[in-house]
Amino acid sequence: MPRSFDLFAACLPGLEPLLTDELVALGARPKRLRGGVAFAADAPLAMRSCLWLGTASHVLLRLTEFPCRALGELQRKAAQLPWREWLRPNVPVTVRATTHGSRVYHTGAVVERIENALATAFGRPVSPATGADTIVASVHVRFKNDVCTISIDATSTPLHRRGYRLEGAKAPLREDLAHALVLAADWRADTALLDPFCGSGTIPIEAARLALGIAPGRLRDPAMEHLALFDGDAWQVARSAPPPRAAVERAQIAASDRDAGAIEAARRNAERAGVAAAIDFQCCAITATPWLQAGAAPARGVLATNPPFGLRVPKGDRLLPLYQTLGHRARGLGDGWRVALLAHDVRLARRTGLPLRAAWTTRHGGLAVTALTGAVVATET
Ligand SMILES: C[S@@+](CC[C@H](N)C(=O)[O-])C[C@H]1O[C@@H](n2cnc3c(N)ncnc32)[C@H](O)[C@@H]1O
Repeated sequence: MPRSFDLFAACLPGLEPLLTDELVALGARPKRLRGGVAFAADAPLAMRSCLWLGTASHVLLRLTEFPCRALGELQRKAAQLPWREWLRPNVPVTVRATTHGSRVYHTGAVVERIENALATAFGRPVSPATGADTIVASVHVRFKNDVCTISIDATSTPLHRRGYRLEGAKAPLREDLAHALVLAADWRADTALLDPFCGSGTIPIEAARLALGIAPGRLRDPAMEHLALFDGDAWQVARSAPPPRAAVERAQIAASDRDAGAIEAARRNAERAGVAAAIDFQCCAITATPWLQAGAAPARGVLATNPPFGLRVPKGDRLLPLYQTLGHRARGLGDGWRVALLAHDVRLARRTGLPLRAAWTTRHGGLAVTALTGAVVATET
């Protein structure tokens, strides 16, 4: 296994600053780029990044780079690459290609040349078996300004698939976005966190795992295990290193939703995530949420939530009273609270009357979504 890797941690556009901070906390010296962050790492740090990054979707190992101006040249150079040092013979491979500003511009032909080289190296066709659970190695070939870069995904499934959210609700949020919302809220884990529209529980579960020091990748297969690059000793080092941020012993987290099925799913998801004891789930409408009753909330905390967008769940204009109720109830929490809302319609979110500022914007399920955060300015009583 190489002593050190050049890596690229990819994330949804807009999350790069949070991902950079996460990498700094892991001890890396990251360079922020569009769509992700580049960094160098030894094998344990490369594996730790797959285990601990909460806002990344992939970690790519950049394995080689060479000038290339023609498909014939690619075929020749690809045949000389040490594929058997990188990939396992029994693991199917998918090849993806992109090209920009290069004489080689036909991505389908690039994929075909690389697949030919793999077939020669392994003595079999490389195309992946079908089936949702099949482990597949992903090779990424990028042409930029006549330079070909070959990378391999360090994990066989995207990092946001943590493995606990086996049951969704109406419009489940991606785990990396829930993680990014909690990070943007600047939540201190020794204070409270409330999600009154918790659905399948993604936001409170990500918050609880952050608070208790549970790695986002804890339920996932060991990083790189599906590759010939896997190093069991490095994995043991990576796994036994302490969490990148201080953990608390007990978290104070409440979550509610008016949909009984969503709450049942959220409880089971939290069980799988190892945080069921840390979250108090209640089935109730926002107007009956226990901490949103006068004087019932802890003194300090964050209300972090993803209210209905009005697209996949009931229609936009009908949501105005719901957002106004949210704003009114949030102000009742008191000055020790902050709010973090994930919104599709920023104007609707502002109708909460809360002083919100955009922390990041990205796309989720084909929609632009913005994380809005702000301090609660309490209502006079
Ligand atoms: C966008 S979804 C939240 C998704 C959640 N973040 C997840 O990852 O599954 C909004 C949720 O708000 C809930 N909801 C809608 N109106 C509500 C109300 N008046 N009181 C409480 N929950 C409500 C819906 O049942 C739905 O689960």
